[in-house]
Amino acid sequence: MLGVWWALAAGALLCLPGAPGLNNGLALSPPMGWLHWERFMCETDCEKNPSSCISEQLFMQMADMMVSNGWLKAGYKYLCIDDCWLATERDDNNRLQADPTRFPGGIKKLADYVHARGLLLGIYQDVGKQTCAGYPGSLGFYELDAQTFADWGVDLLKFDGCNYESLEQLEDGYRRMSIALNHTGRHILYSCEWPLYARHLSKVNYTEVAEYCNSWRNFDDIQDSWTSLKYVIDFTAAFQDQLVPAAGPGAWNDPDMLVIGNFGLSWAQEVTQMALWSIMAAPLLMSNDLRNINPRSQALLQNQEVIAINQDSLGAQGYRVLKANSFELWEKPLAGGSLAVSVTNRQEIGGAREFLLSRSDLWKGLACKEKCYLTQLLPTRYEYGSFNASFCLPLSVNPSSTVLVRVD
Ligand code: GAL
Repeated sequence: MLGVWWALAAGALLCLPGAPGLNNGLALSPPMGWLHWERFMCETDCEKNPSSCISEQLFMQMADMMVSNGWLKAGYKYLCIDDCWLATERDDNNRLQADPTRFPGGIKKLADYVHARGLLLGIYQDVGKQTCAGYPGSLGFYELDAQTFADWGVDLLKFDGCNYESLEQLEDGYRRMSIALNHTGRHILYSCEWPLYARHLSKVNYTEVAEYCNSWRNFDDIQDSWTSLKYVIDFTAAFQDQLVPAAGPGAWNDPDMLVIGNFGLSWAQEVTQMALWSIMAAPLLMSNDLRNINPRSQALLQNQEVIAINQDSLGAQGYRVLKANSFELWEKPLAGGSLAVSVTNRQEIGGAREFLLSRSDLWKGLACKEKCYLTQLLPTRYEYGSFNASFCLPLSVNPSSTVLVRVD
């Protein structure tokens, strides 16, 4: 794997558009997969809750589901463990170890199980003394822990930022773990929470974060609610001048997990999350119960045309274009001069309202000059057909829902 310094030099020489990103060859499009935290949190009582406790059985069952129910085929390939997998102590050689009763086979066996099914395994650790849930953190052991993960066959590390002592220590820890992962020679995607913790302390240098991390969280943990979703969307829009330029192949802003298929969102709101996460070029990491998910949510999460917008090879993060009359218009430039456009109705009273989608509000780089072909992808697919260069299209948008349109 390439060293970080080589990567920086190469990025500068090649004059890549946007940020070059951590040049480890990973996450050239936003990572896709499943992460346990939002849905399963830190349930460790397997006697009382055998089917939802954090255990190797849970991950093996999710791995099976990912393969048998079309998730892997749809692009979701990282199966990720979050906090609460660790034993309360390191072993006699200071190596990390999984909780022996909940992960009797250890992480290596789980990684083998996951790899045998064509999936990749993600794991969680923390830059400080302890993880957020109080398990042993990586402070003082960055190199050893990186090597342990590589030895086990881990493919992604989510590195949290709880329990650090100073901003210097936090930032130094994030840099050192990045370098340590590279030094193992194994390709391990590095998912950080550096800006989320550092932003309380200083102005975040996103250029630097993108040089060390493949993705990074900026904002508080998502929850299974419309309120939480709106906070994340509004935060992203409020800071888009800083966030959008930092994103690109190999380096992504992470607005946190997809909570589609759980309890808190209506259908309209699930559509909004899927549309906006695609526009934002967000990692698509679901946190739900794949053993029990309703078919409509599953189809939404597996919608190939929507996923294609998220995974588009240009790697541009979309942004909010305008906010007026309780509507929000976002757009995401796509490869070849195409464009994805979303319109969200943020009025939470009444019925559907009409928004006039006008060419003049949209990206000047659109390739279509005489004939633009418009296809609605969400909430349902509809081909509007060809329009001339000065189109003005009325869209009907339900409260808290989003209409996602592709312009080619
Ligand atoms: C939080 C983190 C969450 C989850 C949790 C685990 O700080 O943002 O995504 O990982 O810790 O304790």
